[in-house]
Amino acid sequence: MGAMSTTPRTPARIAVLASGGGSNLQALIDYFAGEAASVGAITFVASDRERAGALDRARAAGITTAVIRDPRNSDDVLALLETANTDVLVLAGYLKLVPAAVVRAFRGRILNVHPALLPSFGGPGMYGRHIHEAVLEHGVTLTGVTVHFVDEVFDRGPIIAQWPVPVHEGDNVSLVAARVLLAEHRLLPSCVAAVASGTVMLGPDGRVRGRVLPPADVAPLDIR
Ligand code: GRF
Repeated sequence: MGAMSTTPRTPARIAVLASGGGSNLQALIDYFAGEAASVGAITFVASDRERAGALDRARAAGITTAVIRDPRNSDDVLALLETANTDVLVLAGYLKLVPAAVVRAFRGRILNVHPALLPSFGGPGMYGRHIHEAVLEHGVTLTGVTVHFVDEVFDRGPIIAQWPVPVHEGDNVSLVAARVLLAEHRLLPSCVAAVASGTVMLGPDGRVRGRVLPPADVAPLDIR
């Protein structure tokens, strides 16, 4: 069955693209090696950066890896994902724009995590520390995490779920980033499992069907 099949198998074969240290990737690896093993498995990890920590984490978990030589080349990216028989594609700290042909091929099966409450603090230039600096500069008291389906424009796709994270008086960028990252590690795997299992999907009208709600007992994650 080619990588572009529209009926994900069980467990779904999940590919992850990452540019950085890979703590979100690690959260996915741990989640699908444990409680969600019947829903999906992380079967392929690729990066635009040869020395990305995410590749080290994948190799340590015995997961097939690749380096994307030209992230703009849709044929190359599609070939890598097809070879891996990918059902669901996750951008976990991936800093390159995914070529439109890849987005189209994986419509409704490609997710991204963004460390803010989109549409606020999103779009070109809004990544990593820049986001949390802008959050502090604007004096917002609530930030959070967004997981969304990917479309052709950075950080614009239909939102799957959001999780609130408080901003405390006296917070600095590192504290906000660490608090948000904790929330990312919890929300992203749940969203990926929901899409892989079909309990959340992208309708033909471009609207998200299904919801991923925070567990009732979860207070906003906090670090002081
Ligand atoms: C995360 O904050 C993610 O939301 C952003 O980049 C960071 C990646 O961190 N896109 P890691 O590589 O998953 O540790």
